Formats: sequence, structure tokens, C-alpha cells
Amino acid sequence: MPKEVFEQAAAAVLNYNNSGLSILEIGHRTTTFQAVMDEARALVKELMQLDDNKEVLFLHGGASTQFMQVPMNLLDDKETAAYADTGVWGIKAIKEAKLFGKVEVVCTGKDSNYNFIPKDFAVPNDAKYFHITTNNTIYGSQWQKIPKTSVPLVGDMSSDVFSRVIDFNAFDLIYAGAQKNMGPAGVNLVVVNNKILGKVKRQIPTMMDYRNHVSEGSMLNTPPVFAIFVCMLTLRWLKASGGVAAIEKLNCEKAALLYNEIDINPLFKGTVATEDRSKMNICFVMHNPELESAFLAAIKQNNIIGIKGHRLVGGFRASLYNALPIRSVQVLVDTMQSFAKTQA
Ligand SMILES: Cc1ncc(COP(=O)(O)O)c(C=O)c1O
Repeated sequence: MPKEVFEQAAAAVLNYNNSGLSILEIGHRTTTFQAVMDEARALVKELMQLDDNKEVLFLHGGASTQFMQVPMNLLDDKETAAYADTGVWGIKAIKEAKLFGKVEVVCTGKDSNYNFIPKDFAVPNDAKYFHITTNNTIYGSQWQKIPKTSVPLVGDMSSDVFSRVIDFNAFDLIYAGAQKNMGPAGVNLVVVNNKILGKVKRQIPTMMDYRNHVSEGSMLNTPPVFAIFVCMLTLRWLKASGGVAAIEKLNCEKAALLYNEIDINPLFKGTVATEDRSKMNICFVMHNPELESAFLAAIKQNNIIGIKGHRLVGGFRASLYNALPIRSVQVLVDTMQSFAKTQA
């Protein structure tokens, strides 16, 4: 997250807007917090350029809760939902959907350890919705083109929301855990088209029914006040930085810098099909895996942290979320170059 957001959040914990109160102790029904909620929701609408029929909600629970909340609201037990299986998070979403109705997995990258985004598939016209994971955090693949379907499109954007300009209105439901590009853990962004709600026959528990959150302006119960406040600050920062188009330009520069090094450095190789490479999570391995621990030691020496790859892929994963400055990517590239020299 941006340093200025940390500073503003820290100051607000001590004394919010010179009120003498902490942001952590003001009531959520006060006009003070209502203003925070209103601004956060309005910023999402503005930054995503959402149509009027889209509702913006900040809900508890992490993206994993959405794996079940989506089918609970959209899928009856005899109906079918279509899912793309592009890795772990998609699989978890599929598992939950099966609790509520039928699931047709219309494409999968399983046989090649999810190193590409499937292109050749058909979504049945009678599916209630089609679910994709727009960016696959663990494998480092990303849908570069959002698929066109005749059925409502649902997107898990947890790891690339607000990182690039896409037609957000092409989705009838978007969800994203805040903790990558938007704010701290503890809150989900949900953007939903009102028109797809209220069509299932089952009774939905009050807190799980999106319609209740819509009608209460995302304030059905006590919302995760601090997490929403920090999301608002981050969205303000994004707007002041030029919005999604401007951050996309920087994200492209950061990703190009690192992918270029991966491609020309004789020690490393990327793990994902070039055209499907993620600009958020960059996965790479070494041609000679025996060198990995020495490279990790070099990385540590240069104060680079958190780039060990997920155990399902191995190697390395550099996450270049919105707030990461390009100079941090340059430090990694420099380390890769100087390590290659020691091996020459
Ligand atoms: C694409 C994607 N979906 C879902 C999740 C799960 O999010 P949470 O831990 O907020 O439930 C993650 C977490 O990294 C993710 O990357």
C-alpha cells in the first residue's frame, strides 16, 4: 500500500480529522463514517466508470466468502453455473458452487499446471452465470481479454482489481478481497448488477443476501469500518495518481522490466505462456533449480522479501501490486543480473 495511505491511516487512528476521536471509535451510524462509506463507494463507481445499475458494496469475509455467496444468490439447485478452472482459487469457487447447484467446468488448464488461460471453450446459453478468476495469483496468469458471453459474467478480481482498464460493466458481478490493490484485509469489494438478484427460489440468510446490503447502503450491520476507511484512502490515492489508466501504464512498465530480464537472463525462465502473463504476479524459475537457494540468499541480502514462489509452482513469484514502486522492481532485476555474473 502507498506510504501516504499508511501515514494518513495512522494519524486517523490517533485523531480523526481533529475530532479528538479515533477512526476506530466513531460510531458507524455517525455522519462522519457515513461520509467515509459514501466516498469509498463513489470512488469505486468513478474509477471503474460503472453504469447506474451497478451497486457497490463493502462486505465482510474475504474473497473466499464470495465463493459461496455468489452461488447462494444466483444459482438454484437444478440450475447450472459455468466456471473456468484456471487454478486454485477457481477450484475453491467451483467447490462452493456445487453446494448450491450444478456446475459445468467449461475449460481447465489443469493438465499443464495452469500455465495458460484457456481460449477454446463454449459457455452454455442456459448457464445462470459464467465465473472467471481474472488474475491467477498463484500461477501468474491473467485473462488479457475478458470473454464475451450471453450469460451474466462473474469475476473474482481479488488480485488485479484497479490494476488495468477493462470494461468493468461487462461483468454482472465482481468481487475482490481488498488486501492486494485496495486496502487492508478484512473487507471485500462487491459490485453487482441489481437485475441479476432475486431470481433464486431458496431462502437466503439475511447477511448473505446481497439485496439486503444493497437496500441498506452497505450498512446492514456494523461494517469493517477501519478497512473501508483505508480502502477509501487508497482509492483517493489512485484517483490522485491519475486513475486506473495511469496505474496501468506504470504496471505495464514494471512488468515489462521484470519479464524482459527473465527472458534475456540465461539463468531464469518464465512459467506462463507469454500472451497470458500476469502483470501483477510474475512467476519464474531457474533453469538449474540447484541454484535457487543461492539466489534466494542474494535476494535476502538486497532486502527483497516475499518472492519465494508458491509451493504449487516453485521458483519465484514477484507480486507487483499497484503501490509497489518501479525502483523495487529495478532492485530485483539488478540482483538477477549480478547473480548471473557470479555464475558466468
Ligand atoms: C484470486 C484470489 N481469489 C480469492 C482469494 C482468497 O481471498 P481471501 O483470503 O480474502 O478469502 C485470493 C487470495 O489470495 C486470491 O488471490
